[in-house]
Amino acid sequence: MRDAWLTSYPGVREHEPLQPYSWYGIGGRARYFLELADDAALPELVGRLNRDQVPYLVIGAATNTLFAGDELPGLTIKLSTARISINGDAVSVSAGTLMPKLAAETARAGRTGLEFGAGVPGTLGGSVFGNAGAFGGEVKDRLLRAEVVDPQGKRQVMTLAECAFGYRDSVFKRSRDRWVITSATFATTSEPPAAVRKRLLEVQKHRRATQPIEQRSLGSTFKNPPGDSAGRLIDACGLKGLQVGGAQVSPKHANFIVNLGGASADDVLALVAEMRDRVQERFGIELEPEIRVIGRAKQA
Ligand code: EPU
Repeated sequence: MRDAWLTSYPGVREHEPLQPYSWYGIGGRARYFLELADDAALPELVGRLNRDQVPYLVIGAATNTLFAGDELPGLTIKLSTARISINGDAVSVSAGTLMPKLAAETARAGRTGLEFGAGVPGTLGGSVFGNAGAFGGEVKDRLLRAEVVDPQGKRQVMTLAECAFGYRDSVFKRSRDRWVITSATFATTSEPPAAVRKRLLEVQKHRRATQPIEQRSLGSTFKNPPGDSAGRLIDACGLKGLQVGGAQVSPKHANFIVNLGGASADDVLALVAEMRDRVQERFGIELEPEIRVIGRAKQA
């Protein structure tokens, strides 16, 4: 790994604490850290990182990511690009845009199809990576194409089919974590803004009623197993309210682990293990984590 050049790369900070960039409020440090509000320099940067075998991680709002290590090696890139452009049916949006903002802006413009974004508290980049969804909609339902930078540092356009989306899954998550999603284009349809906004508010209302949105969490801890609900299974094991340090299984929704304040990554991972083990013992079902754990060889 040859990373010394990063010391003098414009904007790079060293040994940067990650906690302020973590929605969850948990983080170690990044050896090198760079926030980009514009992705023009990204292709060259990504090409060089790969040539020099420097590890890198791209983050958005880190709403689904637990920073569990002391110091992440290589470069952590926070993409803060926030651009939405609406051209007829096509809505193009950059990776750093928050999904609730995308939902609100398209609703205001009288475009329907992206209301589910109001229930996804993350960025577009992370949402494409994990095919995020909520309340009957998910990224793959409306995505036309994703614009990406490949490990050689070339911009490429990927079709919906090439993204190979599945339930909370994509080709990026499975095998292309060195690719960087820079933007995506969605198909929308025209509808009066008031009607779109009504559905958007329903999404928010349902979310407020069923999820602990007033507390810090990483969203659903586990994926739902086929035909069942992780929340229902964990709840049935009587784990709501269980606390390890500052982390707690939400009393409102059992598939959420909330940070009561001062939770450590170890606290969260101990709860993840307990939830998984108890569901395995009682129901013989192996829950698969949905949260992304960074900086541990093997999660809980
Ligand atoms: N349930 C319980 N106890 C609980 C929680 C839920 O019995 O503590 C039951 C509910 O009563 C319901 C069922 O489990 O019958 C399903 O619960 P819910 O409707 O809350 O949905 P979910 O399956 O837990 C999924 C997504 C959420 C998304 C909501 C709404 C997954 C893993 N989770 O939750 O996505 O917001 O539907 O569409 O697919 C996320 O991925 O981070 C996320 C929050």
